[in-house]
This record gives sequence, structure tokens and C-alpha cells, in this order.
Amino acid sequence: MPETDEILVKPASHAVGAEVDGVDLSAGLSPSALNTLRKAFAAHGVLFFRNQSLTPEQHIEFAESWGTIVVNRFFTPVNDYPQVAEVRKESHQSINVGGGWHTDHSYDEEPALGSILCAKELPASGGDTLFAGMSAAYEALSPGLKETLSGLRARHSSRHVFGEEADMPDDIRDRLRNAKEATQDSVHPVVITHPLSGRKALYVNPGFTVGFDGWTVEESRPLLEYLYQHASSEAFTFRFHWEPGSVAFWDNRATWHYALNDYPGQRRLMHRITLDGEALSA
Ligand code: SIN
Repeated sequence: MPETDEILVKPASHAVGAEVDGVDLSAGLSPSALNTLRKAFAAHGVLFFRNQSLTPEQHIEFAESWGTIVVNRFFTPVNDYPQVAEVRKESHQSINVGGGWHTDHSYDEEPALGSILCAKELPASGGDTLFAGMSAAYEALSPGLKETLSGLRARHSSRHVFGEEADMPDDIRDRLRNAKEATQDSVHPVVITHPLSGRKALYVNPGFTVGFDGWTVEESRPLLEYLYQHASSEAFTFRFHWEPGSVAFWDNRATWHYALNDYPGQRRLMHRITLDGEALSA
């Protein structure tokens, strides 16, 4: 359904994501175009754009039209562009960045609003990204489980993923940096009220959540595992196939993502900018 004269927003799936047509992200957006995109972002959690081929400067300009850029502490930046992180896998490497369900920066006290990922070099096949919608996943839970979760908070950390204690093979170490700075621990409600949509959303993720506040890791595991299995089921997920010039802009408070690692022997290079967020409440 056209939302302005030019911009067309088409839901990508029942639970998460929308394809956006009729917008050139390199051109500088009018207030009305930005307004349309803001509404679509709040409604769908991820926006997908095709045929954009943004330069790093244009990528930065689009990001800054949305909010303040947060420089990721751990990803190697693109040369001369500290705001732009490289998400790269070389043909000889076996591990990819982001190859498991997670949402970016949940270990921060004020988790990142979202991330804007641009395809730069794609494998001939494979390398898709999965997305999961955390409001749809939450809404499908039983009233009893919703009631239980409503009183819970969860601990998130960067230590076990990016820190010196992380079980990180050499294969990926060269693409990450600052292990000593991976000391972020934070506590967030397990169910948040999304700051843009006002919908409730599940806010735990397999990448960075370490347990429920006041519970041991062992006590937390069964319920977390249940929530992970539930939220990553087909009903709440969408698989995005990248093409040259594709851009995905996701909301970290509304979605998870998972970069598939199914392109052995091929290179994949993406540029990512992450935007500053805010403290989350129940
Ligand atoms: C990420 O986790 O930010 C990377 C996603 C991707 O490369 O598809």
C-alpha cells in the first residue's frame, strides 16, 4: 500500500520486516520521506532497501539523519571511517561475524537503537540473514508465561563474546579488537515496552543474555532456552536474501538477527553503522 506518493512499504512477512521501494537513501531524505520511514521502522522492525550502493559518506549521512552513531568497540572499522564497522569473512576463513541469533549491544546500559547494514561484496550463493520479530514472539506466549516474565529482568554481557575470556578461535580474532574493553554488564526487563511502537517485546537473546537477574545461570537456562526456541521458530522469522546494493536497517529492541554461514570458500563483506539508543523499560 503506498504510504506517500513515492514510497511503497510492503510487509516482508507476518511477524517482521518490510521491503521499501521508491526511496534513494543516497539523496538526502525529505522530512516527509523520513517520517514515512520512521513509521514503517516502528511498525515492522526491519526495513529492506534494494539497489542503493551507498558510499561510506552516504551511509553515514543516512545514519545521522536518523540519530547519533555509536562506534562499535569491537569490530574493525572501515579504513578512514571509524563510524563504519566491517562485517567481513574472507574465503579462507571458516567463522563469520554474527553467525547466531543475537541483537546488537544488548550488553550496554542504553542498548543501540538499530544497525544499518550495506552489502559490499556478496558470495555467489548463500550469506542470507535471518530476522526474528520480538513483539510477535511475545504476543504469542500464553497469558501465564507473560505474567511470569513481566516481573523478570535479565543480565546481558559482552564479556563471553568479545572479552579476553571469550572462547574465540584465531580464525575470527583478526576481525575483532579491544578484547580488554569487553567489560559491559547490564540488566534490562525481559519484556520491554518498545520505545517507538509501544508494543511489548521480548528482550532476551541467545548471544548476550547470561541469565535472569537473581537466578543462577543453571536456573535461567531452561526458561531462556524455551524462549529462544519459541522466538526463532518459523512463525516469527524472515530470511533476507542480499543482492548487490541491498541495505537492511533493523531495530535492535524489536528484532534478533542471524548471519548465515553457508558460503565456504567465498568472501562476504558488509558495512555496518550502529545508532545510539536509550535505557529500556518494562
Ligand atoms: C551482524 O550481526 O551485524 C551481521 C549481520 C550480517 O552480516 O548479515
